[in-house]
Parts: sequence; structure tokens; C-alpha cells
Amino acid sequence: MSVGVSKHEHVLPYFLGLIENLRYPKDRIRVSFYLTKNPPEPEDQAEVLIKKWVQEVTKHYLSVSLELTSSDQNWKETALQWSRRKSCSHAFITTADHFLMENSLRKLIALDKVVVSPLLNAPFGNYSNVHGVLDDDYVYRVEMESIRIYFLYGPYLINLKHKDASYLTFDSDNLRNYNGRQDPIYIFAFSAYSMQIPIFVDNKFFYGYFLDSTYYSHNYHKKLLSYFLSNLVSEFGTISFPHSSYIEPSYPPPSRFGFDKIYLINLKRRPERLRRMELVFKLLGIDYTLFEAVDGKHLAPEELEEIEFMPGYQDPYYKRPMKKGEIGCFLSHYRIWEDVVKNSYSRVIVFEDDVRFMENSTIELNEMVEDLMKMRTEWDFIYLGRKKMSPHGDEFFEPGHRYLSTVGYSYWTLGYALSLNGASKLIHADPLSRLLAIDEFLPIMYDKHPNKEWASYFPSRNLLAYAVYPVVVVPERYTHQPGYVSDTEDSFVFEETFDRGENEKETISSTLHYKDEF
Ligand SMILES: *[C@@H]1O[C@H](CO)[C@@H](O)[C@H](O)[C@H]1NC(C)=O
Ligand SMILES: *[C@@H]1O[C@H](CO)[C@@H](O)[C@H](O)[C@H]1NC(C)=O
Repeated sequence: MSVGVSKHEHVLPYFLGLIENLRYPKDRIRVSFYLTKNPPEPEDQAEVLIKKWVQEVTKHYLSVSLELTSSDQNWKETALQWSRRKSCSHAFITTADHFLMENSLRKLIALDKVVVSPLLNAPFGNYSNVHGVLDDDYVYRVEMESIRIYFLYGPYLINLKHKDASYLTFDSDNLRNYNGRQDPIYIFAFSAYSMQIPIFVDNKFFYGYFLDSTYYSHNYHKKLLSYFLSNLVSEFGTISFPHSSYIEPSYPPPSRFGFDKIYLINLKRRPERLRRMELVFKLLGIDYTLFEAVDGKHLAPEELEEIEFMPGYQDPYYKRPMKKGEIGCFLSHYRIWEDVVKNSYSRVIVFEDDVRFMENSTIELNEMVEDLMKMRTEWDFIYLGRKKMSPHGDEFFEPGHRYLSTVGYSYWTLGYALSLNGASKLIHADPLSRLLAIDEFLPIMYDKHPNKEWASYFPSRNLLAYAVYPVVVVPERYTHQPGYVSDTEDSFVFEETFDRGENEKETISSTLHYKDEF
């Protein structure tokens, strides 16, 4: 196995962990690293890590080595020739931005081709290591097969025991009549094509991931890795593959993105969500403060006394009054608004604990703040994630901003930025004395709520609200996905222990109706 490494120190803990985890006898594997480094350059972090790893694992493998190559050197050809000299049965030539799952090498070898590459999916969307070569259906594995292709970006599994394999090369000096691009991957494709050696790619199995580092800056690639890993945590509850036993991953320094505080709301009886969000924040470099949610299932009598419902309020879809979870949710946010005012925080962010961060989310937060400063925009509230409830075409980008947009009627409170002014306005509106769902309250406060009767309970509707495009966070799972549990939506309808009597009959019947439905 030959691995090209250059400035890949951030992916190495994971890449090496996956190598350690491969289900293939280690004492039959030779590993050689090729690190691109021009002579006067000092030792970089990737070199330090590889040297450490080599030292730790040498005893387990047939051999492990590190070779320093200059940038004009053709390391792929060097690797191929080295594998031939060592009489390896197969050469696997890869770079450290390809993440292979534990059975991938065995499965590829079992395909018994002269040259084969695994389909590797990039995080977020349609990109892959066959981008531009094969179409989306192949990438999404709608069709599952080994396909013959004429050009391959890598990684390469080459069966050196096959007689045809001796014609393969990455070096144009070994070819007659080559006048194409001097890029080893084009030369390799030509050597295969001219000797009629088929190159295959296979997607019958999930082989792993591809975090392409060719097109991105080193800095962005680090971020891409963190978006990718945090997305895995949101998806599976944990990073779904191991990191190296010898090389610890590193994390970005935690930031508040220019905010005074970033709150994470978590119910004490949901510790698994807290653990997941802790890891997500660690991966993304978000400096947060835990804020214990008000538990709607165990509301204290003092808390209930504070509250009066808005007369006649019903959830517009389920036609039912508020559920305990929704009351808890409202109170949790309300307590944070109080905390903001009490401490005079000039701006904060609030996240609920079941959110998934989108690609580029932390970059967007930074740049959103830059734009707010530069444009001196006055703002109270910014949705970082939401469900748009109004028709298309009623929202517009703010001039001078890269992400900020005006906002129409919207739902959800999974993530938002709030200014001190915003927090005061929300508290002064005194929502606890005419309570309705927080999803409805906020649009009323920025005066985009379609229900004018509800709105009339809040005469001062001047919250300066915005949203960002694209959203920074989405729900970790949408309600139709398996594994979805929401504390607000799935709790029981609030029953009549403290309703004011008048609507009692109606409330009870709608409660029953609701329970029947589900
Ligand atoms: C990704 O693939 C889907 C499904 O084939 C397609 O609808 C979508 O347009 C593709 N997106 C891009 C950015 O190519
Ligand atoms: C994220 O940022 C990178 C680098 O600027 C860009 O190439 C990519 O298209 C962005 N992705 C999205 C979904 O905006």
C-alpha cells in the first residue's frame, strides 16, 4: 500500500485509524508513505505524525516506511516500481484524503481485476472520486456494478500478478507516442488504454469517503473535514469509524464568532443529545454554554402560575392547545432571553440540541458577523435555521450582506442569533401572560404573522428579524426520518389542571381526537 501525503496532518488520525482497522493481515501488508517536501523546508506536522506512526506500528506490518519526495518527483511511479521490486501481489496507490472502510481492500481484491478503483463518496452531495466520469445515478448507487472507464483519479488497486499489469505506468518515459498531459494520472490512463487493459470502478459495496484536497486550500480542507465528521455524528450519533490508536485527532480552537455567549439548550433527561452536541461543537470549534431546558413534563407550580394561554389559541395544524413540551420549550427560550437582559449581553446565539450543522456553517457565521459589523446593520433576531411558511418570492437579500435576508412567516427555533435589544423586546411583549407556541410568537413579533387576531394581542411588533441563506442548521432528523424523537411534538397535550375552565370541553375533545390520530 502506497500513500501520498502532503499537508494532510488533519486527516491523518482518521486515515491511519482506517488503515489500522482494515480487515487484512497486517503481516502481509507493506505500507510506504510518500511525502512531498522540497529540500530546505523544515519538518512539517504531517511528517512528525507519520514518523510517530511508523515507529509505533512497524512491528505489526511486513514493512512500513516514509520517503520524502520533491514536488517534481512522480511518487506514483516510484510507488508502483517499489511494489514490483518487493514482489507484492497487489499495489494499492492512494492519498490520505481517501477514507476506506474496514472491508474495502478485501472486497476490491476479490473483484479480481487488473486495475480497479472503489467508488468513494464525498460528504454533502454528488461529488465523488468519479466526478465528471460517471453520472449521479452511479454515485448514488442506484445502479450497482463494476463499470469500465477510461480515466481514473484514484485510488488504484493494481493486481501485479496479472501479466498485463507490467505495462502499466505513471511515467511517460516508459511510453512511446505519448504527447498528452504530463500528469501521472493521464499517463496511467493512456498506458492502460493503449495496451487494452480495462480499468474498472466498482460501487457494489460502500467503500468509503473521499475528501478531495486537490481543489481546496489547506485551511478550507480542515473545515471540510470538521463539517464531514460533525455530519456523521448527527447521522449516526458518533463518528462511524475509528481514529488511530497512536495519533490523536486535533480540534479547532473553540470560538464564539464574536458573540458574547452561545447557548445550547438541553433537557437534563436527554444526556445522549448533549453528548452528541458536545462532540459536534468540539469538531466545529464552537465555544458553547450549556443551558438546562425547562422540562415541560415537570413544570413547577410557580412556573405554571406565571402562565396564561392566549384565549382561543389552537395549533393551526393539529387544532389542539399547547402541549407540555411546547410550554417547556417556550419557557426555556424565555429564560435565556432573561439571562441575556440580566447580563446585558450585546449579542448571543441560541441552539437547540437536535440540530445538524450544514457544510460551511462556521464560515458563514464568521462572515455573517463581518457583514453585520461592516454594514452597521441594526438587528434584533436572525434565524440560523427555520422552516419557511410563507410563499416563495417574499424575501430578499440585504444589500451588502452575503447571507442576510429579510424574513417572512417562519417556524422553528433550532438556531438563532439574538441581540440585547431583541431580547428586551421579546420580554417586554410579555408572552407568558398570553402564551402561544414560540413558532407563532416570533413571526408575530416581527409582524409577518398571517393571523391578525393573534397578532393583536401583541401591540408592539417591531422585532428587527432576518434569516440567513443558506441555513446554518437544520433539524438533526426531519420528522419523517427514522429515529426522530422530539420533546415538543411528541409530548402529551397539556391537560386541564390549570386551564381557566371556559374551553374545557373543547380542549378535552381535541385532546382525544389528537390521541386517536396518532
Ligand atoms: C445531484 O443529484 C441529484 C439526483 O440525481 C440531482 O437531482 C441534483 O441536481 C444533483 N445536484 C448537483 C449539484 O449536480
Ligand atoms: C463551501 O465553501 C467552499 C469553499 O469556498 C465552496 O467551494 C463550496 O461550494 C461551499 N459549499 C456550499 C454548499 O456552499
